Amino acid sequence: MGDNVFIFGHPLIQHKVSLLRDKNTSMKDFRDLVDEISMLMVYEITKDFPLVEVEIETPIAKTKTKVLSDRKVSLVPILRAGIGMVRGIQQLLPNARVGHIGLYRDHETQLPVEYYCKLPQDIAESTVIVLDPMFATGGSIAAALRILFNRGCTDIRLVCIVAARRGVERISSEFPDVKIYCAAFDEELNANAYIVPGLGDAGDRLFGTK
Ligand code: PRP
Ligand code: URA
Repeated sequence: MGDNVFIFGHPLIQHKVSLLRDKNTSMKDFRDLVDEISMLMVYEITKDFPLVEVEIETPIAKTKTKVLSDRKVSLVPILRAGIGMVRGIQQLLPNARVGHIGLYRDHETQLPVEYYCKLPQDIAESTVIVLDPMFATGGSIAAALRILFNRGCTDIRLVCIVAARRGVERISSEFPDVKIYCAAFDEELNANAYIVPGLGDAGDRLFGTK
């Protein structure tokens, strides 16, 4: 795998992913865990965000200090399950705008079908953070990345909770400029292209639809 792939080894993240995988975890706890894991991942995702120097006055003295540059950030959750990751990231990046890409995997072909797309107008000038908790064959993510590259985006980061080897290898070779961040990495997919051991259907577990 290329050096554009980052798999989190942090104990807090590993602990919370284990709770998320457990089939007995309730919908509410699942939603809260997705929130918390997404928030913890922001620390690494933003590691290279540019800073600018500003002058401020503390109660004691004037000083020069650093704040984040005003480069815009756009979060792009892939519907539905990506929505679960938005709130945790917005807690730390409150000015990030949110675009939505609607894709579902056809049950027969396992290929993504696009049904919605609404993105910030000037998304090409922003750092784009694509959100999807599940990264299986990589078909949905490839479709989302094509939409974003066609819109002129150049700085794209992809954030997933459980990623499978097949998807990660596909995306890191097809899109070598995209940085990929995964909370957990699984080797296998089953015959229905579900991640093994994975955590099941993320959308259904987040929204209680099954
Ligand atoms: C899931 C998941 C990803 C996709 C991953 O969405 O949230 O978008 O499958 O699979 P892939 O890597 O093989 O494309 P799903 O199609 O189940 O839609 P949903 O979020 O609306 O449930
Ligand atoms: N979508 C999911 O929600 N889970 C998987 O394991 C694969 C695709």
